[in-house]
Amino acid sequence: MRTPVGIIGAGPAGLFLSLLLQREGIASVVLEVHSRKYLEERIRAGVLEQGTVDLMHELGVGERLKKQGLEHGGIELRFGGRGHRIDFRELTGGKCVTIYAQHEVLKDLIAAKLAANEPIIFETENVSVHNLESAAPAIHFRANGISEKLECDFIAGCDGFHGICRPSIPASALQIYDRDYPFAWLGILAQAPPSSHELIYAYHQRGFALFSMRSPKISRLYLQCAPDEDIAAWPDERIWKELGNRLETTAGWKLTEGPVIQKGVTGMRSFVTEPMQFGKLFLAGDAAHIVPPTGAKGLNLAVADVRVLARALREFYTNGRRSVCGECGRCSGFPGG
Ligand code: FAD
Ligand code: PHB
Repeated sequence: MRTPVGIIGAGPAGLFLSLLLQREGIASVVLEVHSRKYLEERIRAGVLEQGTVDLMHELGVGERLKKQGLEHGGIELRFGGRGHRIDFRELTGGKCVTIYAQHEVLKDLIAAKLAANEPIIFETENVSVHNLESAAPAIHFRANGISEKLECDFIAGCDGFHGICRPSIPASALQIYDRDYPFAWLGILAQAPPSSHELIYAYHQRGFALFSMRSPKISRLYLQCAPDEDIAAWPDERIWKELGNRLETTAGWKLTEGPVIQKGVTGMRSFVTEPMQFGKLFLAGDAAHIVPPTGAKGLNLAVADVRVLARALREFYTNGRRSVCGECGRCSGFPGG
C-alpha cells in the first residue's frame, strides 16, 4: 500500500488533518486502533472554540453542529456566593464557544471521510513506524489478521498521549517538559437538564467545581479530588451532595439532579514535547502536548496544530517548499520571520 500521508489516529487531530488534506487534493490513509463505535461513543471534550467551529463549517461538516451546538457568549466564575460573568463576545469582538461533544465531532468527521471514499482503517493492531529519516518512511500494522506495510512520503503522529509515534523518536532528539498536579477531576455525565445557560466555574474551600453540559438534556459536572481518588467511594448521592455544597453558594440557584450515566477520575497534567518533527514524522495534538482539562483546550489545540501541518504539506506538494511560515501559511519563512 502507498499513500502520500499516513495518519496514525482517528481522533480530532487525525481526522481534521485528513479532511484538510482532502480539500487540497492530497490523499491520506488513517489508521485507528479502536472501532468506529468506540470513537463515536467515548465521552471527552465538549467546548469548541470559534476557530474549530469555523473550520467545521469551512470543511462542510458543520450541519449537525449548527443545529445541535449550544453557543455560549460567556462563562460565570463563582466565588464566595457571588457570580462574575466573563463576556466572551464583548472581550473578543464577537467570538463565542460552542458546546458540542467531541464524539459528535468525530461522528461528523468520520461520516465525511467515508462519504468521500477515503479510507479509515479501524481496529488496527501492532502499529509501528519505520525509516523516519529516509525518503521512504513506512507504517507497519495488522488489520483483519493480515500484516500490512503502508509506504508514505510523510507520517502524521496523531495518536494521542499514549500513542506509539512520540516514543518512536529517539529520546535524545526530544526535549520534554512535564508536570503532574496534586489533584484530579471527578467527572460525571448526568441525565439532567442544565441548571444554568452558561458554564459555572466555582471556587470553594472544599475544592473547585465545574458545571458544564453536553446538550439540553445532559449535564456534565466536575469536582476537584485527589489524583488517586477511589471512584467506588463516590456513590451518586455523595457526588450530588458535594456538587451542591460547592456550587449552590449563590442564593436561589439550584442544581438540577438526575441519573448519573457515566463517572470517572481524570488526572491533571501538563506535557509539552519539542520539536514536533523528527525526519518525516510530524506529531500533532495530544501526541505532542497535553494541558489539564481545566482549560478546555486540548481538542482546539489539536485542530490548530493540524491547520499548520496541512498548510505546510500543501506548500510541499504544490510548490515544493520544505518550510512554511506558521503564521501566514504562505511565505516560506519560519514562524515570526
Ligand atoms: P486523541 O483524541 O487521543 O486521538 C488519538 C487517537 O489515536 C485515538 O482515537 C486513539 O485510539 C488512536 N491511537 C492511539 N494509539 C494508536 C496506535 N498505536 N495506532 C492507531 N491509532 C492509535 N479539549 C477541549 O478542547 N475542550 C474541552 O472541553 C475538553 N474537555 C476535556 C475533558 C476531559 C475529561 C478530557 C479527558 C479531555 C478534555 N479535552 C478537552 C481534551 C481533548 O479531549 C483532547 O485534547 C483531544 O482528544 C486531543 O485530540 P487528538 O486527536 O490529539 O488525540
Ligand atoms: C467539559 O464540558 O468537559 C468542560 C468544560 C469546560 C472546561 C473543561 C471541561 O473548562
